[in-house]
Order: sequence, then structure tokens, then C-alpha cells
Amino acid sequence: MKLAFWKKSGSAAGQVDFDRLPRHIAIILDGNGRWAKRRGLPRTAGHKVGSETFRTIATYCRDIGLEYLTVYAFSTENWKRPQDEVDTIMGLLKRYLLEAIETMERDNVRLRFMGDLTPLSGELRELVDRCNAISGRLTGCLCSICINYGGRAEIVHGAKMFAKDCAAGAVKPEDLTEDIFEKYLYSAGIPSPELLIRPGGELRLSNFLLWQCAYAELYFTDVLWPDFTREELHRAIAAYQSRDRRFGGI
Ligand code: FPP
Repeated sequence: MKLAFWKKSGSAAGQVDFDRLPRHIAIILDGNGRWAKRRGLPRTAGHKVGSETFRTIATYCRDIGLEYLTVYAFSTENWKRPQDEVDTIMGLLKRYLLEAIETMERDNVRLRFMGDLTPLSGELRELVDRCNAISGRLTGCLCSICINYGGRAEIVHGAKMFAKDCAAGAVKPEDLTEDIFEKYLYSAGIPSPELLIRPGGELRLSNFLLWQCAYAELYFTDVLWPDFTREELHRAIAAYQSRDRRFGGI
């Protein structure tokens, strides 16, 4: 078993209590462009390696029994990037989904997508539908990929959906609670992340999971996403486990 190796290896895994993992980890995939620039490569090379890193980390999360992993792959603002960079990211997503369709059932990994998917190509949306259909038959680790996602846009979208239900007479504004509003978010049914990891050295949320991260422990590292390893994940989880979570209490 891989865990036995990590536990014995003297790595940061030794500081992780694998019986007390967070249920849900969220990650902002940041630093791909700088990783490539430092090597004199085009930014797109960073995204290619970044997508391999995602495979490695997602597989490892499943191996250690994490229930939910959510990653920020493409924001509502990322469309402003040069067309070839956008095309490369979309191409990598397509490749990932094609592979996932072949392997999800075997690996018992569910995929879900958060964001406004309407501007995606018909081909990509069709792959998303196929992944969703397969996921519906599975029970394993739920990996959510945020595409054309923005935290504020998600909240506005949820508010609109709630207003529509009010107008249709299905619900009343005065009955709205935080628990009910969560059902209108893209993340409906998924517990909030206990741990948010941001590689790449920036110290901000960048409009990621604004509602859901209200009480998340934040872990920032200078390591760029393509260099992010299982050891980095261990460090983040160990840091999370060392913190005292009081949720406003004492
Ligand atoms: C941020 O780094 C990264 C992105 C905007 C794209 C992330 C996409 C992938 C890793 C590929 C596909 C994803 C999956 C889940 C298969 P950046 O370019 O902003 O880095 P920088 O801050 O160094 O410029």
C-alpha cells in the first residue's frame, strides 16, 4: 500500500494523520505561466505540465481516501488571455475528459463541473455530459473542475435561480436560509472545503469559492503548480491538521 511507503519514508507524510483528513480540499492551480517562463518555454508548456500534475494529485487524493477535491482550472477572467493559450487549456481539458471517460468507472472517480459552461465548444460540453452521466452511476471521490467559474458570478446565478423559484411560487423569500441558498450554488450537495491550497505565491482567493471558503483554512505556498508534489500536499494537510479551528467560538 502506497501509504505505508509514505509513512515510513520520513517525509511530511509522517506528520499527516491519514485517519483525520479533511473531507474536501480545494486547490487554485496557479503558477503554470511562471514555471514555463523560468525555463524559457511558452506559457502553454506550463499548462501542459500543470495538467499532468493535476492527474498525479487527483489520483493521490483518491488513493488516500479524500472524498472531495475541487480545482480552479479556468476563471471567468481567463478568456482575456491570448487565444492560443485559451485554446491550449481547452485542448488539455478535452484530453483529460476523454481519458476520464475511459477510466472513471474503473477508478471509481466522479467528475463534476462548476461554472457557466455555455461558452464552451459543443464538443467539450458533450464530453462534460458524458462524464456527468458516468459519474451518476459511481460513488467514489468527487473531483469538481471549475471552468469559466467565478465566485461572485456563482452567487449571482444562485440568487437568480432562487428569485425565479420565488416568482413561480415554489419558495418564499422569507424562508431563505444559508442552507437553502447553498442548494442554488454550483456546489449543491458538496460540503464546504476545510482546506484551500494556493500554490504560486499569490496571497489571494481570486474569486474562487467565495461562499464555500468562509471557514476554510488557507494554505499558501511559493511552489508553482507544475512543481506541486504529493509531498507538498502532505505539508498542506499537516499544516491544516495543526490548526485550531474555532468557527467563531473560543
Ligand atoms: C493558472 O496559472 C492556471 C490556469 C489559468 C490554467 C490551469 C489549467 C490547467 C492546469 C490545464 C487543464 C486543467 C485540468 C484540470 C485538466 P497561470 O497561467 O495564471 O500562471 P502564472 O500566474 O504563473 O502566469
